[in-house]
Amino acid sequence: MTVAYACGKVILFGEHAVVYGQPAIAVPVTQVRVAATVEDASSGEGVTIVARNLDVVHRLGDSIQDDGVHPLDLTVRNTFERIGLSEGRDLLIEVSSTIPIARGMGSGAAVATAIVRALSAHFGAGLTASDVSELVYKTEILHHGTPSGIDNSVIAFERPVYFVKGEGPQAFEVGQSFSLVIADTGASSSTREVVRDVRDYWMAERERYDTLFADVGSVAMAARASIARGDTAEAGRLMNVNQALLEEIGVSSAEIRALVEAARQAGDLGAKLSGAGRGGNVIALVTPAARQWVTAALQSAGAIRVIATEVV
Ligand code: PMV
Repeated sequence: MTVAYACGKVILFGEHAVVYGQPAIAVPVTQVRVAATVEDASSGEGVTIVARNLDVVHRLGDSIQDDGVHPLDLTVRNTFERIGLSEGRDLLIEVSSTIPIARGMGSGAAVATAIVRALSAHFGAGLTASDVSELVYKTEILHHGTPSGIDNSVIAFERPVYFVKGEGPQAFEVGQSFSLVIADTGASSSTREVVRDVRDYWMAERERYDTLFADVGSVAMAARASIARGDTAEAGRLMNVNQALLEEIGVSSAEIRALVEAARQAGDLGAKLSGAGRGGNVIALVTPAARQWVTAALQSAGAIRVIATEVV
């Protein structure tokens, strides 16, 4: 049996604007992860994919509702094709995950990454991080419609990335490590729907939205520089600026505002939504001294789960 893992992620700066060509910054979150195992099954069983948390048992090639393609099916088929394997084999692929679903933490991309890595290891294919990222991007298209590619990049490379759509992810320096607190609003958010809404707003008010996206891009660029020189206070301030722009873009929500406000009152350095918005997670940049206060404040403001992570 072969096992492989993939981590979660959060977007620090630049969500939505990244879809329109602006830079964004994302970091891996290793406190949550997906495990995928691959083992040979009895002869004639074919390929079965079991995802316990999703309550899915899928046989490769079986159609799903409306004759759509299942993302797990697509991931396995694309990987087989990439490593030159025929589909007529007997395998059991099992996936389990601690990454919350539909909360902007990259659950879909992480499931696909763990499967690709496990298949690559099982068959000795030696796929690189870049190969894995490319394969997972194809699954992301099925999940999200028009993904920028930031999720598959940060998860496949498992390091902080500065990302511009259509270009390879750039590794960047973290001058001084810093702490993030990630608080779940408890509300699911459909990336596909929110991204589609933003596209509608952009079509209706193109000039205003182009300016908003460019402003978000400038914030991401400035944030990269402040993180590289270890200026955590400035990175926090820029998170607040990014949040104000996300409010204007129209992807915040009452739950998000409540958590952002609670983190600020408790003395964070900056806070914002992360991912598509309208639910999902809020992230707060904190000093080691403020971490426990911010965590407690987020919990009493209604966060259903709070995770702490270190960006290094
Ligand atoms: O909801 P998530 O974490 O998958 O993030 C979506 C990020 C967007 O910028 C809104 C979309 C994208 O494809 O980059």
